[in-house]
Amino acid sequence: MSKEEKKIILTGDRPTGRLHLGHYVGSLERRVELQNSGEYDEINILIADDQALTDNADNPRKIRDNIINVVLDYLSVGLDPEKTTICVQSALPALHALTFYYMNLVTTARLTRNPTVKAEIQLRGFEDEGLPVGFFAYPVSQAADITAFNANVVPVGEDQLPMLEQTREIVEKFNRIYGETLVLPKAMIPENEMQRRLPGVDGKAKMSKSLGNCIYLSDTSASVKKQINGRMYTDPQHLRIEDPGHLEGNMVFTYLDAFCKDEYFAEFLPQYACLDEMKEHYTRGGLGDGTCKKFLISILEEILSPIRAERQKWEADIDSVYDILLAGTEKARETTNRTLARVEQAMRIDYFANREIVKEWEELLKK
Ligand code: TRP
Repeated sequence: MSKEEKKIILTGDRPTGRLHLGHYVGSLERRVELQNSGEYDEINILIADDQALTDNADNPRKIRDNIINVVLDYLSVGLDPEKTTICVQSALPALHALTFYYMNLVTTARLTRNPTVKAEIQLRGFEDEGLPVGFFAYPVSQAADITAFNANVVPVGEDQLPMLEQTREIVEKFNRIYGETLVLPKAMIPENEMQRRLPGVDGKAKMSKSLGNCIYLSDTSASVKKQINGRMYTDPQHLRIEDPGHLEGNMVFTYLDAFCKDEYFAEFLPQYACLDEMKEHYTRGGLGDGTCKKFLISILEEILSPIRAERQKWEADIDSVYDILLAGTEKARETTNRTLARVEQAMRIDYFANREIVKEWEELLKK
């Protein structure tokens, strides 16, 4: 079977913090489904510590500490190292080499136009502080990640679409110049809008640690309750239960859109059969915010409690977690080294792959 025919997934995360509900609903849940679908020949997940360093160069400790948090989150949600290769970016030197070669295929003008990078530059204040070259170029390194694994399917959030665009351009240019070598990848993004972009509990566009509006997969039930009861916005005009309620900007319903399944009604709120019925009652008036929040808390507990239990098990056995990471990284090293060898061959810079060039040089000198 040729590389193109295989179905290979690569995706990844920057290890800058523990993973939260936004990660779960936007990608982790789907990764587990893809893993268990049996439809893919290979699933690779990259802990992108090098990418994380591009804007944390002064704080490698943060990255080092969060590698374990991210792996624990992966294992807790049901990613299975028997089926999914989990690996660490910095330990894959082929990715560095590929990045260096791909940088020649991308202009600074093109990188400047990347909307995600643009937004991140603003967010991090790099406009005033000065922009690190590594950060500016990280989309190129992401192209190296994706192509090194020969991935054709890349499950990511919407914000990563520009990276995929950029990767596809690099692949096309590489193949045009050096001959058909790299696999052209496609992004796979969540269908449900709320799953694509889960806001923070306070309704701010993004869950972020500094805003304190996150619910982490490893949070205790008490803290989940506290976030929802204490910080989650509903409808400020919905003062009495009888008042008609509004759904727009109401985070309880936003979260229900992302997490609710019909079967949860039978279990926790049997007066409704589905979310539409519940919304209808809320809009009409007569359904209190307390009941809605309680329902949401029950759903989140149903999702989070097995994750927490799994995490506890792994936390008690970090030696095994280390072994999983090591084995995954070693396997990924082989895969990515093979791609690098192919790339160097295509670029005709594979001088030491064999001694063929000796003859070539001799011929050249005879002329
Ligand atoms: N940029 C991605 C993010 O911030 C993380 C990432 C790094 C990634 N390398 C990748 C995602 C390769 C998909 C494929 O979430």
